[in-house]
Amino acid sequence: MGILSALSRLPRPTRAVTVLTAAALALAGCGGSSLNQSGGGQSGGDVKVGLLLPLSGVYAPLGQEMRAGFQLYLDQHGGKLGGRTIKVVTADEGGGPQTGVPAGQKLVTQDQATVVVGVVNSATALGLRDFFDESKKLLVIANAGADAITGARKSDYIWRTSFSNGAVAATLGPEVAKEVKGKVYLIAPDYAAGKEMVAGFRKSFEAAGGEVAGEKFTPFGTTQDFQPYLSTIRGSGAKAVWSFYSGAEAVGFVKQYKEFGLAGKTPLYGPGFLTEGGVLDAQGRDAIKVKTSLHYSTELDNPRNKEFVAAYRAKVGKPPTVFSVQAYDAAAVLDKALAKASDTSAPELVKALNGIGPIDSPRGQWSFGADHNVRQQYYLREVKSSGGTFVNAITGELG
Ligand code: BEZ
Repeated sequence: MGILSALSRLPRPTRAVTVLTAAALALAGCGGSSLNQSGGGQSGGDVKVGLLLPLSGVYAPLGQEMRAGFQLYLDQHGGKLGGRTIKVVTADEGGGPQTGVPAGQKLVTQDQATVVVGVVNSATALGLRDFFDESKKLLVIANAGADAITGARKSDYIWRTSFSNGAVAATLGPEVAKEVKGKVYLIAPDYAAGKEMVAGFRKSFEAAGGEVAGEKFTPFGTTQDFQPYLSTIRGSGAKAVWSFYSGAEAVGFVKQYKEFGLAGKTPLYGPGFLTEGGVLDAQGRDAIKVKTSLHYSTELDNPRNKEFVAAYRAKVGKPPTVFSVQAYDAAAVLDKALAKASDTSAPELVKALNGIGPIDSPRGQWSFGADHNVRQQYYLREVKSSGGTFVNAITGELG
């Protein structure tokens, strides 16, 4: 199929991003059949790491937490990974693929980064997938959970240190089906991650005998007033609500859930992003009793986590989050891969990543699966007050 005819079959936003990808590949001199087979690696000396993180938009706080996590690992290792001095160059992912895709491409084509680390938004990850795959450049995703990235559209050059949307959401389904006597309402933002989180939760929840009262996708990145949706939820007669929101949207949703009088009467569940880090500080008491599934909490009782939380607090002045851990672990992964690889070309780094073994992380030990996604433990968490602040207490293990 010709490129123009293939493009005409894509939905309009995806098409725009794909055209940008083709242009960037051409600029990098690695489009179509003339792909750069060497991967552009350096044989010695410094390594440039491109950090692609949201520094603006509803996910900006997540970007700051990831930058702090990556930097902490570097500081603890004398600014080196695998014995090589690291130069970090940062680009703003912004609110989604319109800004994130060109920013990611620029890190490779203009800034000549050996590896790009980061990406919060699933739609950005999906928009960048072909660029990294076709230009044979290494991308280590430290958040975005788009299922296809480590599923149907897996690439040799893309690895993930976080989670997949379907998996992190699905872990809570059987628990909610067991706890809630009645139907549950599902609500999430209207973009790739929201759709996949809802689908993942719904599948495991219904398989465990749960029933859905209704489902709503709210405009992503622009919804500030959740009252109309909360009113629909109340009218649905749902006995509980499951929702995926993160960053500024999570703060707005949980606070308005309380203001609207649903908290305390209609239990609220969701993936842990709903009550994570700075978000929980802003929600405060309004988040009490919210139950979530996630692969991290500051409250995890293991020596590695205790040491990490203390070091992060000392450097950043606040507790770490799942986003800081995912970026910290991306640095740990690169540390191992750079130490093992015979040079810094992407094919050599990929070879090293394939045999990297377990990662000793603050979240507990994890390892890459054959799909380049994380194999890890998920936890059931509940927001509780502790010593004048609020924490995601671990109340059990999931899936
Ligand atoms: C995502 O777009 O994949 C995502 C964003 C924030 C938190 C979790 C997932």
